[in-house]
Amino acid sequence: MKTFEVKTKINFGQGALDRLLDFTNERVLIVADPFVVSSGLIHQVTERLKRTQVTYDVFQDVVPDPPIDKIIGGVRRLFEFRPDYILALGGGSAIDLAKGVRKFASEMEPDYKVKLFAIPTTSGTGSEVTSFAVITDPVEHRKYPLSSEDMLPDEAILDEELVKSVPASITADTGMDVMTHAIEAYVSINNNEFSGALAEKSVEICGQFLLRSYSDNNDTHARRKMHIASCLAGLAFNSASLGLAHGMAHQLGAKFHIPHGRANAIVLPHIIEYNSRIDKLSRSSRTYDPCVQKYCNMARIIGVSNLNEVTTIRAFVAYLQFMNHEMGIPSNVSGLGVVSEGEYFAAIEEMAEAALLDGCTETNPRVPTKKEVMELYRAIW
Ligand SMILES: NC(=O)c1ccc[n+]([C@@H]2O[C@H](COP(=O)([O-])OP(=O)(O)OC[C@H]3O[C@@H](n4cnc5c(N)ncnc54)[C@H](O)[C@@H]3O)[C@@H](O)[C@H]2O)c1
Ligand SMILES: [Zn+2]
Repeated sequence: MKTFEVKTKINFGQGALDRLLDFTNERVLIVADPFVVSSGLIHQVTERLKRTQVTYDVFQDVVPDPPIDKIIGGVRRLFEFRPDYILALGGGSAIDLAKGVRKFASEMEPDYKVKLFAIPTTSGTGSEVTSFAVITDPVEHRKYPLSSEDMLPDEAILDEELVKSVPASITADTGMDVMTHAIEAYVSINNNEFSGALAEKSVEICGQFLLRSYSDNNDTHARRKMHIASCLAGLAFNSASLGLAHGMAHQLGAKFHIPHGRANAIVLPHIIEYNSRIDKLSRSSRTYDPCVQKYCNMARIIGVSNLNEVTTIRAFVAYLQFMNHEMGIPSNVSGLGVVSEGEYFAAIEEMAEAALLDGCTETNPRVPTKKEVMELYRAIW
């Protein structure tokens, strides 16, 4: 038996932040990305809270790819302030940190119930509707995607006003994260009709609106659409999980601090070739792995479907490479300039081992061997 549930109530569209005006008398801890505080973006939230009788405090010790010690700092603040609600305001890093804080606190004091509202300020992770939180161990250079039902936010607020300030490069990275979530969820061995419908709609929106959103911060319509696409893809992978692109990208993030979406963007075209067993030397055949049909569906939605399975997969991979190119994402790790060749190649074996243990890899449509994953890491250099 399978089940599909959406536990998080989603407030979206113009004026969605006005949901905060329903608060009365509560105590609210805002877990905020420091940029959101320093840029004044937080005022869109605090200004609404001030109109109610809410008492609030701000915890802003959030860093990209949150490590365990920042969560402990958040738990400490939570027990000092004892809020009724946590508002997580920021990208995936702030939301994941807030999820970790609530989870740890509930383990320490099971009777203390605090509600979690997630208010994303990037359109990428979909963390506002997932039971995942990706936590980093900076000593071991590992990222752990933790999953637990009680990490699901109670409500999400999707307000495009909060993503207008996202600069082009972060729009590119986070947008390709959305694309990767939708495509990996779609071909995951845990996919189902519900996750499939959500993934298809998400990819359709990415196809229409990601480049527009990248090119113009003030294209409010495109930004609203990408904010929704991110959430749709989150719902899809919350049900179906992900695949090897994420399994490998997590290691690139943990080892070399490559932004999550950027790592996915570089890895994804290689994973599609690997999973489909179709590359530039392939001839058409009578039978294909089941994921090939799924990739072809996605290619049709994007508008690059053509002659047969081989040419369609080739066109789909080329389309994703084109998107990277148009948005200034290098096609390989060397192009990022963040790690030397020697250091990178020395890390490959360890990254491959960690990628095989990563929870996301479990649902990849093709079961990879260590040798193959090492080969994929070499190929993306
Ligand atoms: N929980 C999940 O389901 C899930 C899924 C995918 C990824 N993740 C994790 O989420 C993290 C990545 O999240 P992310 O891609 O949203 O990036 P992020 O939260 O790390 O933020 C990236 C950068 O964008 C800035 N930023 C955020 N909002 C902004 C705004 N409105 N305007 C300008 N700048 C803004 C931040 O200050 C930061 O410098 C990674 O740790 C990744 O592993 C979690
Ligand atoms: Zn992701």
